[in-house]
Amino acid sequence: MRITIIGTGYVGLVTGACLAEVGHTVLCVDNDPRKVELLRAGGIPIYEPGLEELVQRNVGIGRLGFTQSTAEGVEKSDIIFIAVPTPPQADGSVDLSYIEGVAREIAISLTRYRIIVDKSTVPVKTAEKVAETIRRYCKTKVEFDVVSNPEFLREGFAVQDLMKPDRIVLGVNSPRPETAMREVYAPFKAPIIVTDTNSAELIKHAANSFLALKISYANALSVVCESAGANVLEVVRGMGLDERIGTRFLNAGLGFGGSCFPKDISAFIHISSQLGYDFRLLKEVQNINSEQMERFVKKIADTLWVIRDKRIGVLGLAFKQNTDDVRLSPAIDLCQRLLREGARLRVHDPKAMEKAKAVLPPGDQVEYVGDRDEVPEGCDALVIATEWPEFAALDLARARRSMTTPIVVDGRNLLDPAQMERHGFIYKSIGR
Ligand code: UGA
Repeated sequence: MRITIIGTGYVGLVTGACLAEVGHTVLCVDNDPRKVELLRAGGIPIYEPGLEELVQRNVGIGRLGFTQSTAEGVEKSDIIFIAVPTPPQADGSVDLSYIEGVAREIAISLTRYRIIVDKSTVPVKTAEKVAETIRRYCKTKVEFDVVSNPEFLREGFAVQDLMKPDRIVLGVNSPRPETAMREVYAPFKAPIIVTDTNSAELIKHAANSFLALKISYANALSVVCESAGANVLEVVRGMGLDERIGTRFLNAGLGFGGSCFPKDISAFIHISSQLGYDFRLLKEVQNINSEQMERFVKKIADTLWVIRDKRIGVLGLAFKQNTDDVRLSPAIDLCQRLLREGARLRVHDPKAMEKAKAVLPPGDQVEYVGDRDEVPEGCDALVIATEWPEFAALDLARARRSMTTPIVVDGRNLLDPAQMERHGFIYKSIGR
């Protein structure tokens, strides 16, 4: 099928590449000329495992192309996906101006029946608004359908999540677009849930909020475990093996961050309130998340006594493993808090150092270190801030020798307390 994707961010680019990979002809539209040029030349603006090969292969065989022109995208395809940003606003609501702008652009180029698919994460009733906008701005009376098809990919595992999804959600308000959408997704062999557009939009916010709730639950448990002298990892395993609960997304740590959970929870609280419901449960999920970070900084301060002028090594800058994304990263938040306390930082991340420099500029207070095992040198404490698996393989003997004082504060429970004790470290982690 001929498919256009408007917006080549994480969601748009990965969706475009994967749809091309399974045999569709895909045209990706982006209004940033530098991005389009880079992608045409085989470059990738983000780090995402497996994406570069996918893009290069499909560009090479002519199944994936890039353009700046929405009109060309609308003209050439039967199905048009919208995958533009929906950034948060100060009051927790979502800025839908990019979606509205794209809906108007589509409207003025519409000359025959098209299916317009909303992939961006949006508040309930957005599909209805998109349809209304297209009707309003379309010069001629052309038929079209708007579908809601939320995305569930995780950064760092996006290609894998898209190629092997748990489920595909299609929100349709009439039977006509369902057949075509089923054809788009036929190669993926995943269960397809067909519902109305409002329910599909709610599924996305409900799913992300529930996952964040699991994390806050684990973080709250970690506080009780610490006070009780219990081990949160064992408590979570013991409860999670009940199939109704599941062990995933129950890792206590520095709290959740990134461009999705914080924004989506705020949006869901805001939408619920507009619909007349005070979603107190989700407000508490937010509170637990911010308290977790405050508690962690206090843990570092309690161990060092005074943070001012201490040299602290920080392993991890990305908001989680397998990505170079530092948007709303708990690791960056932590670094900024430590800097405000007067610490001097030696920081490292396997992929996110370049992007981190924009929000955490190198200088007297912040030194970027290329080699993970060199970070502890001369440090009064070492902090683990992101769950990169390679941090679990840190050269402990070398770290012990090179640190001024052997203090490790592990915000992701990556290291083994018994092993740390054997190496002579003062080791603090979360909920154990
Ligand atoms: C999340 C969802 O997992 C995806 O299903 C969804 O499609 C995506 O948002 C989206 O809305 O686009 P993502 O933000 O890429 O994906 O990252 P996650 O893997 O969900 O991690 C989010 C945060 O939670 C990270 O800061 C991570 O460190 C933290 N986390 C995760 C924990 O603290 N504990 C856990 O057990 C799991």
